[in-house]
Amino acid sequence: LNKEIIALTRQTGQQMTKSAWDFPESGSSSPAADEEEKPVSYRALVLTGYGGYDKIKLQVKSMKMPPQLKAGEVLVRVKACGLNFAELLGKQGLYELLPSPPVTLGMEGSGVIEAVAEDVGDRVIAMNRHGMWQELAAVPANRTFPIPDGMSFEEAAALPINYMTAYMMLFEMANLRPGKSVLIHMAAGGVGIAATQLCQTVQDVTIFGTASASKHETISQGGVTHPIDYRTKDYVTEIRNISPKGVDIVLDPLGGADTQKCFSLLKPLGMLIVFGAANCVTGQKKNLLAMAKTWYNQLTLNTLKLMQTNKAISGFHLGYIQDQELFERTLLALLELYRQGKIKPRIDSSYHFEEVAEAMKRMHDRQNIGKIILLPEPKKTEEKPKSNAEAAENVEKNEAAVSEKKEEATEEVKAEED
Ligand SMILES: NC(=O)c1ccc[n+]([C@@H]2O[C@H](COP(=O)([O-])OP(=O)(O)OC[C@H]3O[C@@H](n4cnc5c(N)ncnc54)[C@H](OP(=O)(O)O)[C@@H]3O)[C@@H](O)[C@H]2O)c1
Repeated sequence: LNKEIIALTRQTGQQMTKSAWDFPESGSSSPAADEEEKPVSYRALVLTGYGGYDKIKLQVKSMKMPPQLKAGEVLVRVKACGLNFAELLGKQGLYELLPSPPVTLGMEGSGVIEAVAEDVGDRVIAMNRHGMWQELAAVPANRTFPIPDGMSFEEAAALPINYMTAYMMLFEMANLRPGKSVLIHMAAGGVGIAATQLCQTVQDVTIFGTASASKHETISQGGVTHPIDYRTKDYVTEIRNISPKGVDIVLDPLGGADTQKCFSLLKPLGMLIVFGAANCVTGQKKNLLAMAKTWYNQLTLNTLKLMQTNKAISGFHLGYIQDQELFERTLLALLELYRQGKIKPRIDSSYHFEEVAEAMKRMHDRQNIGKIILLPEPKKTEEKPKSNAEAAENVEKNEAAVSEKKEEATEEVKAEED
C-alpha cells in the first residue's frame, strides 16, 4: 500500500519537496469544495508549555470529514503510540526538533488508514516528527508501513524509533561483525532491548548492558551477557575486570562524563556512538545545573589526538535522517527480522491517554523494562493500567528517583476547532 500511495503521489506530479518529516498536524489544509463536511471529534495529548506533567493536556479536537489531506498524506486512526525518552526531553524544552508549545506530542504509532484516495483499512506503522499522540493523525504516506500479520498495534507502535535507532547505529555505522563486543547503556529500555536483540542476529557478540539491578534477570534472559548495575558499581571497573582490553562498540545515550568513560573503554579501532543526553534529565522539570554539568563534562578532543588513539567517534540522531531510501530500507529490514522471529518488541506497559503522566513518570523513575505504550482509546472506569506482570514484579522501589508529587496531567477541553 505504501508503495502504491507513493507511486500515486508521484504520478500526479505531487512529489514532496519538503522533508517527509515536515508535515503539518491533521486537518490543517483547505476544504474540498464538493463534499459534505461533517466534523468529528478526536482526543489528542498536547504539550501546552514546558515543565511538569501538568503541561500535557488531554484535549478534544475536531476535524472536518472527509478530511482535507495534503498531497502525499494519509489519515491514520491511531490505535497505539510509543513513548520515547525524547518526550521527557521535549516536555522540559530540551528536544530541539519539537516545535514550541502548544504542540501535539508523539513520534510513532500504529493504526488503520482511514482516508487516502480510495485505499482505506490497512493496518500501518506510522511515524511523524510530532503529532502521533492523537486519535486521528495525518501523516506522510511514505512514513507509513504495513503491519505484518500477527503483529499487534502495541508492538507496531513500539518498533520504529527504538529499532531503527539501534539498527542504524549497529549495522550502518558500527558495522557490527561476529565476535565483537558491545556496551549498551540503558539496556533494559526501549532502544536497549532493541539493540540487544539486534546484536543477537550476529554470531558470538558479547553484550555488556547497564541497567538497574532489578532488571538484570530479564535482560540476561533477553541476551545481555554481562548485566552491570551502574547505580551501585563503577561500570568501567566492572567491564575492565571481565574484559581488560575493553569493548569494540559503545552506544552512549547518556552524555557528559559518561561519554568520556565510554571512550576510555574502547579497544583500539573501536567505535563510540553518541546518541543521547539522558544525564540532562534529573527531576521532572528542566535542571540547568544538570545540563551545565553534562555540557561541561562532555568529551572534547582534537582530531590529532583522535588519530593517536586509533578510535572512532560517531553521532547519531534519527530525527535528522533525511534519506528516504535509507529510512525505508531499514524499516523493511526490521519488519523482515520480525517475520523471521529474530526481533520482538518487549512491551513494558500500556497506558490510556488519561494516564500519560503515570506513563511518563514510569520512564522517568527508571521503572520500565522495554517499551511504554499510550492508547488513545478512552479508559473504562474500572480498568487498571495493563502492565507487564513480570516487569511489575521486577520493579524495585527506586530510592534514587526524585520523589515527586503525582500530578494529574489530563484535562478535558471542550471541543475546539483545529
Ligand atoms: N539519537 C536518536 O536518534 C535516539 C533515538 C531514540 C532514543 N535515543 C536516546 O536513547 C536513550 C533511550 O531512549 P528510550 O526511548 O529507549 O528510553 P528508555 O531506555 O526506555 O528510558 C528509560 C530508562 O533509561 C534508564 N535511565 C538512565 N538514565 C536515566 C535518566 N536520567 N532518567 C530516566 N531514565 C534513565 C532507566 O533504566 P535503568 O535505570 O535500568 O538504566 C530507565 O528505565 C535516550 O537517551 C534517548 O534520548 C536517541
